[in-house]
Amino acid sequence: MSELSRRRFVAAALGTGAAAGLTGCTAATGQVTHRPRFVPFAGDHQAGITALPIPAQGLLAAFSVQSVGRAGLASLFADLSDEIRGLMAGTPPPVRDPAYPPVDSGILGAQPPPDDLSIVVSVGASLFDDRFGLADRRPTELVTMPFLANDRLDPDRSHGDLLISLQAGHIDTLQFALRQLMRRTREHLVLAWLVEGYGRGAGAASAAATPRNLLGFKDGTANLDAGDTALMDRHVWVGADSGEPRWAVGGSYQAVRIIRMFVEFWDRTQLVEQEAIIGRHKITGAPLGRHGEFDDPGYADDPHGLRIPLAAHIRRANPRTPETAENLILRRGFSFTRGFDRAGRLDQGLAFVSYQHSLASGFLAVQERISGEALEEYVQGQGGGFFFALPGTVDGSRFLGDELVG
Ligand code: HEM
Repeated sequence: MSELSRRRFVAAALGTGAAAGLTGCTAATGQVTHRPRFVPFAGDHQAGITALPIPAQGLLAAFSVQSVGRAGLASLFADLSDEIRGLMAGTPPPVRDPAYPPVDSGILGAQPPPDDLSIVVSVGASLFDDRFGLADRRPTELVTMPFLANDRLDPDRSHGDLLISLQAGHIDTLQFALRQLMRRTREHLVLAWLVEGYGRGAGAASAAATPRNLLGFKDGTANLDAGDTALMDRHVWVGADSGEPRWAVGGSYQAVRIIRMFVEFWDRTQLVEQEAIIGRHKITGAPLGRHGEFDDPGYADDPHGLRIPLAAHIRRANPRTPETAENLILRRGFSFTRGFDRAGRLDQGLAFVSYQHSLASGFLAVQERISGEALEEYVQGQGGGFFFALPGTVDGSRFLGDELVG
């Protein structure tokens, strides 16, 4: 952590006014200043899917589940929920006889400060195999993520029985939470793959700025507003009349794509071409030929793609027609950097995450439209998976997934 962000972190922990406004804003409005907080755990939906502002740091950890039988799985979910409840509330770890290992790593000291920590638990298709007798409770669209156009999926970075998605203002908060969760569940969970990154909230020149991805373009401009509950009900949450199992109501399908970017190649590409590939101006984020970041792209005035090419990423991803209005998704990914590969190329990219009430009408519909786009030359899907984010829980005596395993 840099000295500056360390000072902000400390200021936040002390709750001083200096912390206000430093950790970000809603991308859609660019207006909200923010004091780090403990994100409430209880709710109809898991809070980390829509909590605003989106914190600066993200981490996804996928696990294989080793629990024995349905009762073992129930105890895993109960332990996970209990630990997450405490972590999100900032409950200080209990003091223990020093003759034993301490109850926590000590990374955050005696009192974890508010840092917008949220933790989302999701399940993969493989959890519904014959181990736990859950085959008839599988969400109808939950399958192992197939190879999609242009993919080179690495089995060591794909799929998993269970995914934990963590977000917070600082890396040490994420590491603290991850280690607490793994410590609590070590009899049940074996880590399969992990990706961590950044790119949200803090760090921009202005607190109101939309973050940029590692291609240098603003990312999140036309995202759904996670604060709009009607929009979330329509596009993100599985509803009671969705045809999904009853336990799944209030949950959401989660598509995760670990997408490598060939950044050196991109950096050798002309600006006009980069902008044509995305469909937006690089610096302002405005649709091509427009001035404001949030201006409408105006596709109706440009039917032949003279201003915004028909193959541009944003035009294919969301043509903004009545027929495609049902395909909107909530994106909540982050950038990752993992050093470099054996060819000496930087290993960077986007940990793409989207939430939607249906994979078919959400992620898969959008993915099919962008398949074959010009951007494909510069990116490659290398991992990730399809998951289902469990519904939230309001009652303190209940736990995440209790109706699934009950
Ligand atoms: C490395 C890969 C990708 C890059 C670099 C990228 C980049 C961008 C950028 C710069 C924007 C414009 C700003 C914004 O509205 O957020 C955008 C928009 C969007 N992207 Fe991507 N994206 C990638 C992958 C994907 C994938 C895999 C999907 C879904 C299958 C997707 C769906 C969308 C959608 C729905 C929009 C909003 C379009 C609109 O409503 O105008 N993107 N993306």
